[in-house]
Amino acid sequence: MSSPVQMTVEDGIAVIEINNPPVNALSQAVRQGLIEAARAADADPDVKAIVVYGAGRTFIAGADIREFGKPPMPPGLPEVIDEFELVSTPTVAALHGTALGGGLETALGAHYRIALASGRFGLPEVHLGILPGAGGTQRLPRVVPIAKAVEMITGGGMIGAKEALALGLIDEIAEGDDIRAAGIAMARRLVSEGKGVRPLSAEEPNRVTAEEFETMRSMVAKKARGLIAPLNCMKAIEAGMTMPFTEGRQRERELIMELFASPQSGAMIHAFFADREVAKVPELKTGTPRNIAKMGVVGGGTMGAGIATSALLAGLDVTLAEREAEAAERAAATVQSHLAGAVKRGKLKQDAYDAIMGGKFRTTTDYNDFADADLVIEAVFESMEVKKDVFGQLDVICKPGAILASNTSYLNVDEIAAMTNRPEDVIGLHFFSPAHVMRLLEVVVGDKTSDDVVASGFALAKTMKKIAVRSGVCDGFIGNRILNAYAKAINGAVLAGASPYDVDRAMQDFGLAMGLFRVADLAGLDIGWANRKRKADSRDPNEQYAEFADRICELGRFGRKTGRGFYIHDKAKGELPDDEVLEIIARERADKGITPRAISDAEVIDRYMAAMINESAKVVGEGIALRPLDVDITLLNGYGFPRWRGGPLHYADTVGLDKVLNDIKTFAKEDTNFWQPAPLLEQLVADGKTFASLNR
Ligand code: CAA
Repeated sequence: MSSPVQMTVEDGIAVIEINNPPVNALSQAVRQGLIEAARAADADPDVKAIVVYGAGRTFIAGADIREFGKPPMPPGLPEVIDEFELVSTPTVAALHGTALGGGLETALGAHYRIALASGRFGLPEVHLGILPGAGGTQRLPRVVPIAKAVEMITGGGMIGAKEALALGLIDEIAEGDDIRAAGIAMARRLVSEGKGVRPLSAEEPNRVTAEEFETMRSMVAKKARGLIAPLNCMKAIEAGMTMPFTEGRQRERELIMELFASPQSGAMIHAFFADREVAKVPELKTGTPRNIAKMGVVGGGTMGAGIATSALLAGLDVTLAEREAEAAERAAATVQSHLAGAVKRGKLKQDAYDAIMGGKFRTTTDYNDFADADLVIEAVFESMEVKKDVFGQLDVICKPGAILASNTSYLNVDEIAAMTNRPEDVIGLHFFSPAHVMRLLEVVVGDKTSDDVVASGFALAKTMKKIAVRSGVCDGFIGNRILNAYAKAINGAVLAGASPYDVDRAMQDFGLAMGLFRVADLAGLDIGWANRKRKADSRDPNEQYAEFADRICELGRFGRKTGRGFYIHDKAKGELPDDEVLEIIARERADKGITPRAISDAEVIDRYMAAMINESAKVVGEGIALRPLDVDITLLNGYGFPRWRGGPLHYADTVGLDKVLNDIKTFAKEDTNFWQPAPLLEQLVADGKTFASLNR
C-alpha cells in the first residue's frame, strides 16, 4: 500500500504532501510517512528547504480520533513533531483549510508558517476531553501571549488567518489559493535570504506573573463546570512557563495520559462521532431531498418566530402567517429583533439583513400566500383539533409536492397526516426553543412519510446548521418522552423527601447547566400544566401522580415570567427558594401518607438517571430511536445533558447496566407501576452486552 505521505524534490526544495482524505488526520501511516520524509529530505544534500502541505480540502485536522483508545502505534505524534522540528533544514508549513489539534501542533513544529487567507487554526482537543499533547501547550505559548494561549487551548475555538498573522502564529498570508506554490515560493525566499532553522522549543516562552496566572486559572475553573480537561490544560501551560521545554513536554504527557484515563474523554469522543453518525439514516440512501427555497410558517409565537428566524438565517424565503394582523406584526417584530441581534453578533451580514427586510421575509393573515411554498411548517397551539384544521387547509392551498410539517412536540403525526390527501408529504419537524439558537431538530417520521420527505428534513436541518435526529411517532417522540419519564422520577424523589432546591443542586453538581425545576420556571409552568390537563383522562389511575406543580400553577405562578414558580424570581436577588412551595409539597406528602426521609444527592441522580436510561432503552427497543446514539445526541443537544458524560446511554455503559437495572428494581419497591424495567435493558444485562454494541 502506498504511503499517504509523498516527498518530491523540486529544484532544491523538498515538498512533502500529506494525502489522507477526508481531512488528512494524523494516522499511524501519516506519522510514519511524515517522519521518514523529513529524515530523507534532511539527509539529501541537494535539499535546501522543506515544505509540508496537505492535499485536498485542508491541511491536517488533527490526530486520527479513531485510533484513540486503541493500543498506541509508534511513532507517536509528539516524537514525530520533535524530530521534525530538530531537522537541520529550514521547514515551512503551508496551511489551508483548517490546521487543528495535532495539525496545528505539526505546523508549530515547522520553522516557518504560511497560510491562505481562508485558513483557520485551533487546538480543539478540550472538546474531546483531552489537551494538545504533541507539544501544543508548550509551543503555542512560545508564539502567542499567555492569555491568548489560555483562551485557545482551554476554549478550543478557532482563529482566522488575519489574527494568526497579527499574533505571529503564521509568518505570511499567501496571495491566491494555491498553497503548494505559495509554500514553495516562501521556501525559496528563505533560502535566498539565507534564513536558517527556527525551532520554537529553543525559544523562551511568554510568561505572566503567578498572580495573573491564578486569575486566569480561576476563570477557566469557573467555566469548566465539572470538566477536568481545561484544568489540566492550565497545568500544562503553567509547566511551559516554569520548566525547561523537555520537562514541560514530559509534564504535558502526564497530564494528557490522566485525561485519556478519565471517562470524560471517552464520553466526548463518543459525542464527536455520534454527532456525525446520527445523520446516517436509511432514508438518506433511498430518498432524494426536495428543493426547499420558500418556507411558510403558520403561527408567530415563540416557536414560529424562532423557526422563521432560523430559516431566514439559512438563506430561505419565509412567509409567516398569523390569524390577526396585530399578531402578525408582533411576530414580525420578534423576528426582526432576533435578526438584528444576529447582525450585532456578526452572525448575519448587514446586506443579508437588508435583503430579508426588503422582501425575503413577509407576514400575512392569509394561508393562500403559501400557495408556492416548498415547505410549510405549522407551529400553532398544541391542540389536535387546531392542528387538524390547519393541515386540512394547507392540503388544499399548497402546491403538489410541497412538504407539510408540524412542529408538534407530543401529538400523533400520523393522525395529523390523515387530515390530508398527501400523508406521504407530511412530517414532524420538532424544533427546540429558542429555535434559532438550539441545535437539535427531531425529524419525526410518520407511517406514510416518504423517503424523499425524510431526506428533505435532514437536508433542511443541514442548511439550518442543526443536528437532526430521526424519531418514530409516539407521545413526546424521543426527547420529551424521556423527559416526562425522568420528570416523574424526580417528582417521586420530591414526594419521598427531597426539596426542588436539593434536586436542582444535585443535577447542577452532576453537570447540567440548570436543574429540572429551574428549567421549568424558565420555560413557563403553564405549558406542562396544559399538557397534564390534556392527558388527565387517560392517566393510569395506579400511577403515583405528583400534584404540587398543579397547585403552584393554580396560584397563577408560572415561573420566571410571573415572578414566582418553584422559585421566587427577585430582580435584585435572583432566584430564591420559596417556603410556600415547600408547604404545598409538605401538604401533599401528608395527604398521601408519605413520611419524608432524607434523600442524598447521589440518590437523586440515581433516580434521575435510572428513569432516563430505562425510558431511553424503551425508545430504542421500540424502534422510536434508530440506535442508542440517537438518544444520546437528543439529550446532549436539546436537554442540556453534559457532553462530558456522553449522553444517557453512553453513561449507562460506563456505570454498568447491571447497576442501572438493580436501581430500577430497588425503586420499583416504592412504585412498581412506574419502574417497569425496559425489556431491552434486561436483555442487554442478560447477554452481558452494552448499549454501544447496538451503535455499530
Ligand atoms: N480523526 C478522524 N476522523 C476525523 C477527524 C479526525 N481528527 N476529523 C474529522 N474526521 C472525520 C469525521 O468523523 C467525518 O467522517 P465521516 O464522513 O465518516 O462521518 C469526516 O472526517 C469529515 O468530517 P466532518 O463531517 O466533521 O467535516 P467538516 O468539513 O464539517 O469539518 C473539521 C471538518 C473542521 C476538520 C471537523 O471534522 C473537526 O472539527 N474535526 C475534529 C478536529 C479535532 O478535534 N482535532 C483534534 C484531534 S485531537 C489531537 O489532535 C490530539 C493531540 O494533539 C494529541
